[in-house]
Amino acid sequence: MIDATGMPQRAVVIGGTSDLARAVCRALAARRLRHVVLAGRDATALESVAEELRSAGVEQVVPVPYDVTDVRAHAKLVEAATAALGQVDLVLVAAGTLGEQEVAERDPAETARVLDTNLTGPAAALTAFASLLRRQGQGRLVVLSSVAGVRVRRSNFVYGASKAGLDAFALGLADALEGTGAGVTVVRPGWVATRMTAGREPAPFATTAEAVAADVVAGLGRGARVVWSPSVLRYVFGVLRFLPGPIWRRMPG
Ligand SMILES: NC(=O)c1ccc[n+]([C@@H]2O[C@H](COP(=O)([O-])OP(=O)(O)OC[C@H]3O[C@@H](n4cnc5c(N)ncnc54)[C@H](OP(=O)(O)O)[C@@H]3O)[C@@H](O)[C@H]2O)c1
Repeated sequence: MIDATGMPQRAVVIGGTSDLARAVCRALAARRLRHVVLAGRDATALESVAEELRSAGVEQVVPVPYDVTDVRAHAKLVEAATAALGQVDLVLVAAGTLGEQEVAERDPAETARVLDTNLTGPAAALTAFASLLRRQGQGRLVVLSSVAGVRVRRSNFVYGASKAGLDAFALGLADALEGTGAGVTVVRPGWVATRMTAGREPAPFATTAEAVAADVVAGLGRGARVVWSPSVLRYVFGVLRFLPGPIWRRMPG
């Protein structure tokens, strides 16, 4: 059950080995998270995240093999999650790929892979879990979107478009769930130092997984529909939205 302060006890993580997801789970474990289903592709990596969460105080961690791009996997994951947890308080959708922009611009298979991983798969997973949360009459879907989707840049438009689509889908779902007891929180981080960005030049307002996790926990506490991380990016993008196209086109990735 989600408590009066918005904190969950039982969670499912889609993309269970994500650095951002691990930080969010550790932060939630310091509150009242005690049961977690970790869904992901790499069994060995999932087991090491499971160990980390157990050390952080999570009593039960259940790794489940799962590929977000497999459309048949979502119903099976809902089944596995309800079997393991009974009730699901929170679903964190963290699976994603940055992709190779230069490759994707020429290779339809790479474009499809990025969109399947970041948009089609997560949207299908959200649909499956939204039905469960409706039936439960409670629970929260937390979706890792990105500022890259707020205004899509030429330098990473394939990733940006996938996040723009996911962000729009999640906000539409939030409207659809109004009055059901279930809710959606869309998280829009800027540049975060994780495995995904390793070896890349940090962008302005770069942050850490721990800082994003703290923003997510605070957002859950106030039942926020959208969480920007860091929060200043809400205002930065409020201005950047209006930059003229010829200038915006030259913005780095
Ligand atoms: N880091 C940033 O700057 C940043 C900023 C804004 C938003 N985000 C978003 O935050 C989320 C988490 O990213 P992160 O920074 O924590 O990077 P990360 O550590 O690389 O996490 C990405 C996760 O996605 C999983 N994944 C990829 N393809 C998958 C698939 N087909 N099926 C299941 N899982 C799959 C990866 O698992 P494998 O180990 O199996 O590949 C990994 O667990 C992503 O959606 C990302 O777009 C990140």
